[in-house]
Amino acid sequence: MDTPEIALTRDVIERFAETRDPRLKAILTSLVSHLHGFVQDIEPTPDEWNEAIGFLTRIGQACCDRRQEYLLLSDVLGVTTLIDILNHRPRKGATETTALGPFYVANAPEMPSGADIARNQPGERLHVEGSVASEDGRLLAGAIVDVWQCDGDGYYDVQYPDYKEPELRARFRTDREGRFAFWSIMPSHYPVSAGGPVGEMLAATRRHPFRPAHIHFMIEAGGHEKLVTQVFPADSPYLSSDAVFGVRTSLIAEFPQGPPGSAPEGGPEPWRRLSYDFTLKAAGRSPEAG
Ligand SMILES: [Fe+2]
Repeated sequence: MDTPEIALTRDVIERFAETRDPRLKAILTSLVSHLHGFVQDIEPTPDEWNEAIGFLTRIGQACCDRRQEYLLLSDVLGVTTLIDILNHRPRKGATETTALGPFYVANAPEMPSGADIARNQPGERLHVEGSVASEDGRLLAGAIVDVWQCDGDGYYDVQYPDYKEPELRARFRTDREGRFAFWSIMPSHYPVSAGGPVGEMLAATRRHPFRPAHIHFMIEAGGHEKLVTQVFPADSPYLSSDAVFGVRTSLIAEFPQGPPGSAPEGGPEPWRRLSYDFTLKAAGRSPEAG
């Protein structure tokens, strides 16, 4: 005979038997099954369960127009990255993806090749150049390369209370050879927003809140899947312990010092450089089709 716990789990799942939407039914069945299994595994006391409910309540209360604490919880538990991996496999020759993150702003200004997205920002000058190609090696002209990054203090423009216009973000269009280039500054590592309940969880578990330095890229070209990814300097701290689990080995790149006197477009000295070539996955092909 079933134990009362097993009978209860089955009873709860059966209450959803009339659900018309098969996807919703599958989700709720799995949710109940795993949630009951989780509770049986940890056997919380009533006080512990109340504490868990209070934690989730405080996460909801911490959310507002400018802050999504539930997304942060998903991030630090690795769920955001897991969903990204599940939705973008297999990658084969295409550039690996990472999550979009909370600081993307649509319709950043389009700038000409070689423009400086840092303008008057202090920091180590960085020249970024690269190419965009299809899986078959064809270089893609006219691809939109949307870039954004934090400043030398680890903050994105939109995090400043007096934010007025885009800084350290822009869109570029690849030239006839599928290439793009721009000037910027070296991004900094930075902490995720740790002032709320998720930060309390990190502190209670002795986890640091830092992400390694990175530059975000979103690349779109006709006939290809949109690529959302990040490139990480190989000398950044926290590469092996990203608070949100976004690092992929293939996305770590050297940002070497540029040779003195050779900065592109007569740019500033000293300078560092990043050269990274992106490969987009052709759209609308099943994994089996290769
Ligand atoms: Fe970021």
